[in-house]
Amino acid sequence: MKNFNNGEFRLNDINKTVTVYGWVNKKRNMGGLTFIDLRDRSGIIQIVLNKSTLKINENIIDDIKNEYCIKVTGEIAARANDMKNLKMATGEIELIASDIEIIGESEALPFNINGGSLDTTENNSLKYRYLDLRREALQKNIIMRAKITTSVRNYLNSNYFLEIETPVLCKSTPEGARDYIVPSRVSKGSFYALPQSPQLFKQLLMLSGFERYYQVAKCFRDEDLRADRQPEFTQIDMEMSFVDQEDVINMVEGLLKHVLKEVKNITLPDFPRMTWNNAMDNYGSDKPDTRFDMLLKDLTEILRGTSFNLFNNVIESNGIIKCIVVKNNATKYSRKEIDNLTEFVKIYGTKGISSLKYENDAFTGSLVKNIEIEKLNKIKDELNIENNDLILIVADKPNIVWASLGALRIKIAKELNLIDNDKLNFLWVVDFPMFEYSETDNRWKATHHPFTMPKNIEEINDPVHCLSDSYDIVLNGYELGGGSVRIHDPKTQRIVFDALGLTEDEIKTKFGFFIEAFKYGSPNHAGLAIGLERFTMLMCGTDNIKDVIAFPKTQSASDLMSEAPSIVTNDQLKDLGIEVIKGIRNE
Ligand code: AMO
Repeated sequence: MKNFNNGEFRLNDINKTVTVYGWVNKKRNMGGLTFIDLRDRSGIIQIVLNKSTLKINENIIDDIKNEYCIKVTGEIAARANDMKNLKMATGEIELIASDIEIIGESEALPFNINGGSLDTTENNSLKYRYLDLRREALQKNIIMRAKITTSVRNYLNSNYFLEIETPVLCKSTPEGARDYIVPSRVSKGSFYALPQSPQLFKQLLMLSGFERYYQVAKCFRDEDLRADRQPEFTQIDMEMSFVDQEDVINMVEGLLKHVLKEVKNITLPDFPRMTWNNAMDNYGSDKPDTRFDMLLKDLTEILRGTSFNLFNNVIESNGIIKCIVVKNNATKYSRKEIDNLTEFVKIYGTKGISSLKYENDAFTGSLVKNIEIEKLNKIKDELNIENNDLILIVADKPNIVWASLGALRIKIAKELNLIDNDKLNFLWVVDFPMFEYSETDNRWKATHHPFTMPKNIEEINDPVHCLSDSYDIVLNGYELGGGSVRIHDPKTQRIVFDALGLTEDEIKTKFGFFIEAFKYGSPNHAGLAIGLERFTMLMCGTDNIKDVIAFPKTQSASDLMSEAPSIVTNDQLKDLGIEVIKGIRNE
């Protein structure tokens, strides 16, 4: 058995005879001596191979190449003062080898592993993911993920939570994202769905009396992928009985503070809270990055009644006009660069940006001739505009204005280096609207899910003002997790289903078993789920979710290493009673 970790040897190990194992990170020949940096999960130890002191066939030294897996026995020695490398944890010692054995030879590698950063394409690194995972950066991330999971379990176990597993083959309940479905062989023509989250099961566990549940749960969502989304991801999923919103917030805040202390030795202050309305108003986002200002400012009232048609029409059709002020950087943004910003915001549905610059004590830009001078002066006074300020304005429907300026705010902050990357700004966002309008489905949908308790049930038929008893935990502009107080009495559930326009039949087929359960003495309950990958990403300082997943999928949801998804045999299809439509495969 391997008894030592290569990265842990220090001066007090001198003269010990040890056997170490690992991979050849680097090999250097220096006259009669050969040095090998031998890597294992814990780090690197320098091995010295001196042909005269080796007991074995010295040709083996020439045979060994990078990434060979080897076993070395020898004695730990102090390095000469001028040979010490204080940048390495083991830089004061080395192992003088007496015996060496090759365990596994390596063919020429498809890419360089010990270079630190990746010297190949992402597709190639994913194809050889098992080699990519040997890189120090990825090893650190995977270790951090394991530490976080352990720390989470410790905290929840000591707070009366029970870890309970829920099924992976479930009933499809088409709300939220698209389901991954699995055909049944026994009941041909019927399908399971993989869970988008264990939501229904964890609520039922409360009904069964377990009081506090958690699970490190695999979730599956067939949705468009982004840098912080994977089709298959993991939630730290929790549910508690006999609690209200405040209790859940305190428990989760306690959990996050505990984990940060354990894995990063950081003591966090209490997390601030912000209403959804304030978040949208000031940051244009329900997951605001509060590490820098550049807040959204409202110009609707100042511009009301302007003769500039474009703005006036927006105001008259219940739109809004908002802006961000880029302080002291007007000269940095040329006409062309502002055109590029316009292109950038178009993906959020707006037609463009209007801009104003304030230079040499006067406004410049195309808007100057369109907007009345007294309105421009009001903008200057109310927004404290100074020389070299740039104002970027979007006029549109509220959702579009928020999304465009919210994204622009982040883009510009990154361009101008306004974000302090050492900050960890945790934040609770509360008082979400109960319903949101889906332009694709042309109807109001539950913002969170249909089992979320309304905060003001008397406003249930006013989808614009009805709030939900839900909360999101946000970190540095990412939604880390979300949850809500659940509806636990059938009457309220009925009212919400009615407000969502669900028919009796739809309720029965979609959630029949679930609704039935709440007839039998349901406790009040609430919960939340944290995305483990997003949390780990932020703890590791990366913005790519793949960096914290051992075997991630590509943007098109495939695994380039094992080549999943793949076609199956005709016999397998026959067993399932499934026929693939001719010509449908993109082969
Ligand atoms: P929600 O859908 O907000 O809530 O998900 C909770 C958290 O899971 C993470 N997450 C993802 N991470 C990676 N890839 C994805 N595709 C992905 N989708 C979501 C996010 C998110 O904040 N059942 C409810 C929770 C509850 O009410 O208790 C739920 O799933 O970090």
